[in-house]
Amino acid sequence: MATPASQMDSLADKDKRYSLHPYTNLNAHQNNGPIIIEEGDGVYVRDEAGNRMIEGMSGLWCAGLGFSQQRLVDAACRQMQKMPYTHLFTHRANVPSIELAERLINIAPESISRAYFVNSGSEAVDSAIKMVWYYNNAIGKPEKKKFIARKRAYHGITVASGSLTGLPYVQDGFDLPRIDVIHTETPHYYRGANPGESEEDFATRLADTLEQDIIAAGPETVAAYIAEPVMGAGGVLVPPATYFEKVQAVLKKYDILFIADEVICGFGRTGNMWGSETYNIKPDMMTIAKQLSAAYLPIGAVLLSEEIYQGLAKLSDELGMFGTGNTYGGHPVAAAVAVETLKIYEEMDLVKVVRERSTRFAERIEALQNHALVGECRQVGLIGAIELVRDKASKEQFPVGDKVAFQVANAARQHGVILRATPGDGVAFCPPMIITDDQIDEMFDGVQAALDDIRNHVS
Ligand SMILES: Cc1ncc(COP(=O)(O)O)c(C=O)c1O
Repeated sequence: MATPASQMDSLADKDKRYSLHPYTNLNAHQNNGPIIIEEGDGVYVRDEAGNRMIEGMSGLWCAGLGFSQQRLVDAACRQMQKMPYTHLFTHRANVPSIELAERLINIAPESISRAYFVNSGSEAVDSAIKMVWYYNNAIGKPEKKKFIARKRAYHGITVASGSLTGLPYVQDGFDLPRIDVIHTETPHYYRGANPGESEEDFATRLADTLEQDIIAAGPETVAAYIAEPVMGAGGVLVPPATYFEKVQAVLKKYDILFIADEVICGFGRTGNMWGSETYNIKPDMMTIAKQLSAAYLPIGAVLLSEEIYQGLAKLSDELGMFGTGNTYGGHPVAAAVAVETLKIYEEMDLVKVVRERSTRFAERIEALQNHALVGECRQVGLIGAIELVRDKASKEQFPVGDKVAFQVANAARQHGVILRATPGDGVAFCPPMIITDDQIDEMFDGVQAALDDIRNHVS
């Protein structure tokens, strides 16, 4: 039942009076107010006015099991009753974080042997950056400290992780970047390829550019390369064929570590347990969060290779300790929920489910290619995007000020589907992985209707 309008008005007023919203035009919020989401049910959420919508973005690419997993609620309650808080500093441990670390290492790529817990994706990336510096100090390469990320990458918002992010709206006004980072080219074939260039040739050219960037920076100073297997917030950019193979060859040549940022791609999203598996990446480190707990509680982690771990152990011994940590890193309640999440993934055979569902998902997203407003459709597993254009033949874009992708996302909401506008007039899809074929149809019917609304409006 919807909350009475008078009460919601006062809630909205209080929100405008007391809250400061991330990724929001703060002044516009004072006029438009909040969209208050009150309830969740499977893949659906309900807003304050009682409108039921498919959460086509799993919140922020994270609520992969939807909103009704009683087992996760029970796991949290059990752990809260037993031991609501312990930390992992100074040799302490707790039962769920030990079990979680073991489970993660068992499902992680072969190169990975240790898990370090934090509370979010940004903290995972931040911690990975610090570990890379510490490791290179440990192995006697103190000059090797620079990072390579990619334009349009999203790696978080802290001072260091926000520096690796390659989106202007994350850095503008905040004096970022603040660490040594080179942003190399975006692997977006549709926009970046030269006329007649194959995906493979485009990938070769990007790998050459990467090598030039490394040489210009001084290879002996470049420590690590970080990449999302599929770029999420930058627009769901699926890499061109052979891209990561060629990138890894360049990194190997210059002794540069590969950090796979699996914060979105991890846990089945691309049709394998890891995006790294989908694209044959052999990471030295991985950053994970979001679907690690299906978003029921905040938790993230850095996963690292034994070689890096041994470097950290050596320097910690020399210095007396590994002098970093978070009060809530490995929080027992969050860890217990993550353990239960991994059990559910195992029992439901997550990878198989995503592969089965991705057939219908792919059919429906590809069908949008026929729409007058859609220039490109991108998809892998259960993540995808469409890119809107004014003219399909020339790929001409709408003026940025028209915010056409926002218009489509807003119209989709009117048709019962929550989606997200991304840079480059993309509209992203990342539904809960429990979505059924019928719900996939319902989602795309809503999108189709939204596109029709906006086509009538813009033409
Ligand atoms: C790939 C990637 N890395 C890092 C982050 C940052 O995660 P958080 O918002 O939990 O700090 C995100 C968030 O969307 C992400 O998509």
